[in-house]
Parts: sequence; structure tokens; C-alpha cells
Amino acid sequence: MKLLIINGPNLNLLGKREPTIYGNETFEMYFDTLKQKFQHLELHYFQSNIEGEIIDKLHEVGFDFDGIILNAAAYTHTSVGIGDAVKAIQTPVVEVHISNIHAREEFRHHSFIAPNAKGIIVGFGLKGYELAIQSFV
Ligand code: DQA
Repeated sequence: MKLLIINGPNLNLLGKREPTIYGNETFEMYFDTLKQKFQHLELHYFQSNIEGEIIDKLHEVGFDFDGIILNAAAYTHTSVGIGDAVKAIQTPVVEVHISNIHAREEFRHHSFIAPNAKGIIVGFGLKGYELAIQSFV
């Protein structure tokens, strides 16, 4: 089973960025743990701060992979383009947020991805990515 985790803008700074909200671990460290835990799966990781690159990646894998785990970060709340790409592809997408976006500022409550996501996992920290993987297996 081929799964891709896509992280959007500023998530390359995990470990350094607002640790009280996002924790102290880098995503690279956490991704190593995930690969150890799910050795029977083909896990891939992509991060970009650029909206179009995230859309291109969704197009690239979205007719081939078995699942996509997408934390579009701030683009979640602004990007019609990423929302449309999630709708356009065939691979199911699980939306993940590290923090509980519904307990934060109002502008974080809306998601352009949610209407076309297979499911949504918010507020469980990095563990949300593991829960999303489990939802596919
Ligand atoms: C986030 C929540 C977003 O509102 C924010 O812009 C992020 C991270 C999360 O994982 O909690 O960058 O997607």
C-alpha cells in the first residue's frame, strides 16, 4: 500500500515553530518513527511552502497512490485550488491538523479541503498522522 503525507506551509519548521502548539519534534524525526512502525507500507513524505507545488503533487500521485494524508496548514483555510485538486483526484485524502483548529481563531474553523476529504483528524498532535495511516489499513 502506497501512502503519501503532504505537509503545507511552515510545517518544515516543526520542532522550532510555536512549540506550545505544535510540539518539539521535527517532522523528519517523527517520519522515521512512522516508517519503523509501518514497515509493511510504502510511506512517502512531501513538504512545500508553495501552493502550486502542493497541487502538482496531488495531481502526480492522486491517480496512483492508495491514500494521501494532507495537512495543508494555512492553505486549508484559503486555497480553493487545493480544495479543487482534492476533489479532482481519485486517491482518498484524509485531512490532518496537529492542533485543534476549532478551538483556535475563527479563520481556522473553515476548511476548503474538508468537503472532499475521506475524513478529518484534528487536535491529536503528531499522532494524528499515525491515526490517519491506520484509517487506510
Ligand atoms: C495546522 C493548523 C493551521 O491553522 C495552521 O495554519 C498550520 C498548522 C495544524 O496542523 O494544526 O500551519 O494545519
